Amino acid sequence: MSLSRLELLKAPNLLALPEKTSDSLVRCMRVGLLLCLIASISLALYSAFSPKSHWFPILDRNRTSSVVSAVSAAAADRELPTNISHILFGLGSSVNTWRDRSRYAETWWDPKTTRGYVWLDAKPDNLTDASAKIPYRVSEDWTRFNYSSSQSAVRISRIAVDSFRLRPPNVRWFVMGDDDTVFFTRNLVSVLSRYDHNQMYYIGGNSESVEQNVMHSYDMAFGGGGFAISYPLAARLAVLMDGCLDRYYNMYGSDQRVWACVSEVGVPLTKLRGFHQLDIRGDPYGVLAAHPLAPLVSLHHLGALEPIFPNKTPLDSIKSLVHAYRVDPPRILQQSFCYDRRHKCSVSISWGYTIQLHPSMVSALVLQTPLQTFKTWRSWNDGPFTFNTRPVSSDPCKQPITYFLEHIKDGKIGNTLTTYKRFVAHREKKCNKTGYAHAMAMQRIVVISKKMDPQYWTEEQAPRRQCCEITNRGSIRGGTMQIRIRRCRPSESITI
Ligand SMILES: *[C@@H]1O[C@H](CO)[C@@H](O)[C@H](O)[C@H]1NC(C)=O
Ligand SMILES: *[C@@H]1O[C@H](CO)[C@@H](O)[C@H](O)[C@H]1NC(C)=O
Ligand SMILES: *[C@@H]1O[C@H](CO)[C@@H](O)[C@H](O)[C@H]1NC(C)=O
Ligand SMILES: *[C@@H]1O[C@H](CO)[C@@H](O)[C@H](O)[C@H]1NC(C)=O
Ligand SMILES: *[C@@H]1O[C@H](CO)[C@@H](O)[C@H](O)[C@H]1NC(C)=O
Repeated sequence: MSLSRLELLKAPNLLALPEKTSDSLVRCMRVGLLLCLIASISLALYSAFSPKSHWFPILDRNRTSSVVSAVSAAAADRELPTNISHILFGLGSSVNTWRDRSRYAETWWDPKTTRGYVWLDAKPDNLTDASAKIPYRVSEDWTRFNYSSSQSAVRISRIAVDSFRLRPPNVRWFVMGDDDTVFFTRNLVSVLSRYDHNQMYYIGGNSESVEQNVMHSYDMAFGGGGFAISYPLAARLAVLMDGCLDRYYNMYGSDQRVWACVSEVGVPLTKLRGFHQLDIRGDPYGVLAAHPLAPLVSLHHLGALEPIFPNKTPLDSIKSLVHAYRVDPPRILQQSFCYDRRHKCSVSISWGYTIQLHPSMVSALVLQTPLQTFKTWRSWNDGPFTFNTRPVSSDPCKQPITYFLEHIKDGKIGNTLTTYKRFVAHREKKCNKTGYAHAMAMQRIVVISKKMDPQYWTEEQAPRRQCCEITNRGSIRGGTMQIRIRRCRPSESITI
């Protein structure tokens, strides 16, 4: 071996020319450059003084301007902010489940603006009122793939690609969900518009239960919480997916197959905290009463969990939440904390849903931690979860008094007024302490707030929880307390 690998890599001399040749070459180039210069100057002079340029007939003015304007219109369109019309939804369902679950989809799907389809395994005989509002398509060509646990997982994993193959015009994002996923589309648009849809993105969230992430993957977007795939990534998947289905035929879920295929492209999951798979059992109250500082994008499994409002069916509960969301979309479930120092009470608001009143001074750190009103998904254990929780105390004097949304008023000048009514559980034990008595006298809490800027979650501004204040100095008029939510002052803090 005469040359080491390093020398080969460097290879500095291979392109060098012998001395003499390079001298004459330089001379030649100089002359050439001079000629070029003279030619272009005379060309410029000629065109300046001649009335019409005919040298480049292809560039006649009309065509040039129309080509330029078409290109700039397309470019301008790419620059325009993302709105609901740029999203194509694909819901995974089947004839058997769709009859019932279309009632959930109906709560958020707006037939006038929402684009997309529910994908079924066969043509339905009979459409219910709810299911008739959402266009359906029947999946094709999915039974030829091998599978180990569920054949429908194969079908559902192809929805993103099937949607792409429809070549829908002006679509920037393909958003997948289950037939029982509830999307909060205004917030979904806000978060997606932060990302460049001309690049490859895979956006969603994973499971709340650690066991589920260990079993499937922390890096996977769980399909029930829903996930978004940008157009260029969908285009790649369209090429790869059939091969992926062969390679990963022994996987369990449809979301896992999509993730495996996205991994082959080399695109990681962009995790957002507003997507909720809700892989939990029991009462999701704790999660919804202490939502992270992120816009609510989706909720799943609501039919499998206890209803989120007491004395309402799961479906009526979600209707109530969606109703509040429509009045002030960016604010839904956003927390604010304030103290009644005179009566030593702490208030935690989860806007549009619930208020917790603690008859003691509780720090922000504790108030922002979800009460563990639920168990893990698979094993029905007390954890672990992918976020911190705090236990519900068995001492009635240490439990917050809870209020649930009763009424919402959409004020004309950009204000909203929400009323929350006290909830009394049928527990045997009641707290007899005097401080608790004052709090228990409060039947209702009225919250006034300005609507959040619709762009609130669109710009990459640093998130900060909003502040609130008890307006009538904590006095109870007619069993009602009044609170105002507002932006915090720069120097303000929630300090006991
Ligand atoms: C240029 O466009 C105008 C209007 O669009 C048309 O009237 C005219 O004939 C066109 N000229 C040529 C040379 O195509
Ligand atoms: C969405 O944006 C497009 C431009 O990209 C615009 O033509 C359309 O009118 C917008 N639609 C809505 C519902 O705002
Ligand atoms: C279709 O719906 C109607 C009314 O709900 C019912 O009477 C009928 O039996 C249904 N047909 C099938 C095939 O399910
Ligand atoms: C399906 O699995 C069987 C047995 O493992 C195998 O023989 C067959 O080639 C597979 N078919 C495809 C399409 O991968
Ligand atoms: C609270 O008061 C009721 C009746 O006034 C009494 O029966 C009960 O034992 C008291 N509970 C506690 C925890 O002191």
